[in-house]
Amino acid sequence: MNNLKTFFPNVVLTGDGIINQIPYWVKHFGGSKILLVTDANLTKLGFAKKIKDIVSEEKIRLVIWDGVTADPDIGTVKKGLKVLDKSSCDLVIGLGGGSVLDVAKTVAVAAKNGGSVENCLGLYRVLSRSLPKFLIPTTAGTGSEATQAAVLVDEINKKKVAIYSEHNMADVVFIDFELTYNLPPVITADTGADALCHAIEAFVSKGSSDLTDTAGLSSIKKAGRYLIRAYRNGKSDKEARRGMAAAAFYAGISFCGAGLGGAHGLAYPLDTGYHVSHGRSVAVFLPWVMEYNLSAAEEKFSEIAVALDESCSRLSVKKAAQRSIEIVKDILTNLDISYNLSDYGVKKEDLSLMAESAVTSTERLLKFNPRPISIKDAEKIYKKAYYS
Ligand SMILES: [Fe+2]
Repeated sequence: MNNLKTFFPNVVLTGDGIINQIPYWVKHFGGSKILLVTDANLTKLGFAKKIKDIVSEEKIRLVIWDGVTADPDIGTVKKGLKVLDKSSCDLVIGLGGGSVLDVAKTVAVAAKNGGSVENCLGLYRVLSRSLPKFLIPTTAGTGSEATQAAVLVDEINKKKVAIYSEHNMADVVFIDFELTYNLPPVITADTGADALCHAIEAFVSKGSSDLTDTAGLSSIKKAGRYLIRAYRNGKSDKEARRGMAAAAFYAGISFCGAGLGGAHGLAYPLDTGYHVSHGRSVAVFLPWVMEYNLSAAEEKFSEIAVALDESCSRLSVKKAAQRSIEIVKDILTNLDISYNLSDYGVKKEDLSLMAESAVTSTERLLKFNPRPISIKDAEKIYKKAYYS
């Protein structure tokens, strides 16, 4: 086994209707009153009430706080901490996509660390264990339920910041496939592309290991088999939904240990400044960064091609590696995701500034890319993504 530093959730439960087991695990972790962190849309869809009904049957109290919005900032977490404080909850459940899960993690962690989000920011600066926390993903993409990271917007300094800590790991993850059956097609495509990008970036990452490779390759295989089906068939294809839930989770396990890379780094200005969803932003850059990285990890890219399409095993390593890029482009086309940067309202005169901003703001991501990316390199990739 080669070098590895990673973290795992304590308990992982998967299955249709697995959220019905929440009361058992709340009691198991000594919780008496739950703060359910979610967003307004999931309240509207009845997901929050469903969980409230499940725990109420076992006479467990639950407070719903649905104040999380996309790209949550530190102020959002502080609002959640106030609700937690006022209601004297002693266990946190995050129900939602990556933004919600990241806020739920931070509320649970900050509550036990002096109530200060700022003191927790950065690499492994959290000193005390968090409140017990359960994470329930409702999309199949971000993998936040499997990772040690929580990403927030620092609204004062106008940048993304993150908390990396073993205390961010969930006590219990509930991957309830039923919650994803009705995901709208655009969210299926965007979050699924994010998962595929996580798995590919982790697999070729400088931080990869046997374990992260195993999880990453399994995720890539599943995304290749199920992502387009989940997008096209919606709730009628439960096998595809289950496959994508697994793909997202395995990708999370993979990048939790291996880190990410250039597509996530270069997507940063598009993600934060142009109101393009995170998944779509990273998808735009994925084929171009793969092309840039090809020479640094040819063998790995050939394995990606075979995972996505078994017939590539008949090709030479070089040809299969090149084919991996074409397959990813085909997948994105089938998901109706354009990988041409000019389709996203970006002006050509902004490319240089965006490239510079990406490289200077995402060292935490780019350090794992198999090939170094300078500002000049990033500019070239940006131009390729824009003009091709
Ligand atoms: Fe991502």
